[in-house]
Amino acid sequence: MNGGRPGAAGAPAPQREFAFELADFERVRKLIYQHAGISLSPIKQDMVYSRLARRLRALNLGSFAAYLDRLEHGNGDEWETFVNALTTNLTSFFREAHHFDLLKQHIKKLHAVDRHPIKLWCSAASTGEEPYSMAIAMCELFNSESPPVQILASDLDTAVLATAAAGVYSQERIEKLDDERRRRFFLKGTGTREGYVRVRPELQKLITFTQINLLHTRWPVNGPLDAIFCRNVMIYFDKPTQYGILQRFVPVLRSDGLLFAGHSESFLHAADLFRSLGRTVYERADRPR
Ligand SMILES: C[S@@+](CC[C@H](N)C(=O)[O-])C[C@H]1O[C@@H](n2cnc3c(N)ncnc32)[C@H](O)[C@@H]1O
Repeated sequence: MNGGRPGAAGAPAPQREFAFELADFERVRKLIYQHAGISLSPIKQDMVYSRLARRLRALNLGSFAAYLDRLEHGNGDEWETFVNALTTNLTSFFREAHHFDLLKQHIKKLHAVDRHPIKLWCSAASTGEEPYSMAIAMCELFNSESPPVQILASDLDTAVLATAAAGVYSQERIEKLDDERRRRFFLKGTGTREGYVRVRPELQKLITFTQINLLHTRWPVNGPLDAIFCRNVMIYFDKPTQYGILQRFVPVLRSDGLLFAGHSESFLHAADLFRSLGRTVYERADRPR
């Protein structure tokens, strides 16, 4: 227990089950930055404590120092759980809905001049709502359940990817979708699955789920891509990390492809790589105007 000692920010520390010193928190910050690129703000101590405390309990360890020693010097099997515990996975179907209309317009334009198979990448797919929304938009555009579209959906967090691949959601997750979308793209659970929906297999067939760490310098991505969705993940990275990722996006994106960012993300610091088209959509800066 560290009750009685000052907290990391100088305030009295709350009574806690496990010893959690400022040095432990700084170690977590360093490790998650090195492994996932995530810059954890100094005010996230409580979040880190609550997300990792259950790992200490599960492993029967008495302190964060012991946990971090095991993480760094053990057989390596804890890294995945550590990273999964510290990612933030908030998402929803048709989040920032205007992007899916813009995606449809973009693909319609490209397909009118060149009938190539469309390739899209959802690079921070979380629990799958975003890539399934992309797939729905493409089915609607082509008015077909098997449009000429391949979607790569990736995330660093393997737990959310498993949820994404399963494609089963509680019914509330699709409440805001109109009746037509709910009927056309989801199957309603019955019996023990009452209250749940499953995305139709035709939609799942359009998507390949795989783990990709955006921090890595080599990605198993076959370009050229018609569009990349990289939404609400760059916000966790510092500018140099963002710049490196944007640099690696350029060669896999078609010269007339589009990059979609999250509502509060801006890549103006990488104006030599991407040019803003407004509404957090970007095109390659080397595309002739
Ligand atoms: C807030 S969610 C965004 C989900 C979705 N793109 C959206 O906008 O609704 C951020 C996702 O980024 C993933 N992530 C964090 N660091 C990552 C990294 N280094 N490489 C790939 N994905 C990462 C997290 O696991 C999480 O699922």
